[in-house]
Amino acid sequence: MAKKKLYIARKVPESLIKPFETEFDIRMWENESDPIPRDILLEEVQNADGLLSLMTENIDRTFLQQASHLNIIANMAVGYDNIDVEAAKEYDITITNTPDVLTETTADLTFALLMATARRLMEGSDLIRQNQWGNWSPFGLAGTDIFGKKLGIVGMGRIGEAVARRAAGFNMDVVYYNRRRKEKVERDLGVDYNTFDELIQTSDYIVSLLPMTNETENIFNQHTFAQMKSDAIFINASRGGVVDETALFEALKHKKIQAAGLDVFKDEPIGANHPFVELPNAVLLPHIGSATVATREKMITLALENIAKVFQGEKPKTPVW
Ligand code: DGY
Repeated sequence: MAKKKLYIARKVPESLIKPFETEFDIRMWENESDPIPRDILLEEVQNADGLLSLMTENIDRTFLQQASHLNIIANMAVGYDNIDVEAAKEYDITITNTPDVLTETTADLTFALLMATARRLMEGSDLIRQNQWGNWSPFGLAGTDIFGKKLGIVGMGRIGEAVARRAAGFNMDVVYYNRRRKEKVERDLGVDYNTFDELIQTSDYIVSLLPMTNETENIFNQHTFAQMKSDAIFINASRGGVVDETALFEALKHKKIQAAGLDVFKDEPIGANHPFVELPNAVLLPHIGSATVATREKMITLALENIAKVFQGEKPKTPVW
């Protein structure tokens, strides 16, 4: 029987692909930092049975229509808002993602971002790099405490739970909002359920870990920022689309809230001309939630394993559908 053909939309380490090379014919975009242009990807997948995609590939209905012969698209991310899953169902293309393997790594980054924002770490580092460290002063770079504060997690999936476990070490009072209430998690982790409004009105830290859907788009908007405490700190480690960025910019600029730590943006990548860059009370990161070598390797391997399963006629390990 002819070998199944796999196309990988970004250069990944040869050592990770090797175990699969005897089974499949593999072709790959030979560039690690830049995404494959859409027209080239469409051309490549004409001759493939499976695709390993990244968040940077917009797998919309038009793409799927032109690639409807694919058996599987394995997305190297837990989020899959770059894929039109409903259209994939119509074309009978299996979609998989990479949950679990990135949970703890992303929770680490989320908590690091919270701490960096509260304690103004980037401003401190910049001060030295710009040769601006003057004398020690009573309120020089004075930030906000973390221990004992109220942490509101919006979106209590696996990563939310992992953030709540970290917060326990800081003696934080943890509340969460989730579409579906999770009573077992409440008991196991000692966290309380809040309505969305209650959470945003009373939390010192509001952490978004929401998936990007039609319901969550711009859920953090002018109205929500207006309800937050004036010393609230907003952290987003999920998707930029859940935030109305103009409203957040205004809230930060006019000190309606104290600060924000953002790992994700509506239109990535952003550059030095983005309005947020002028705000000293915004900590900005280039979408690095899952970015450790070990976790990225696990994500790639899991995506390849999902493809192998489907090629062997089995159920993938982590199907989206
Ligand atoms: C994901 O997995 O969805 C992240 O945003 C990318 O690491």
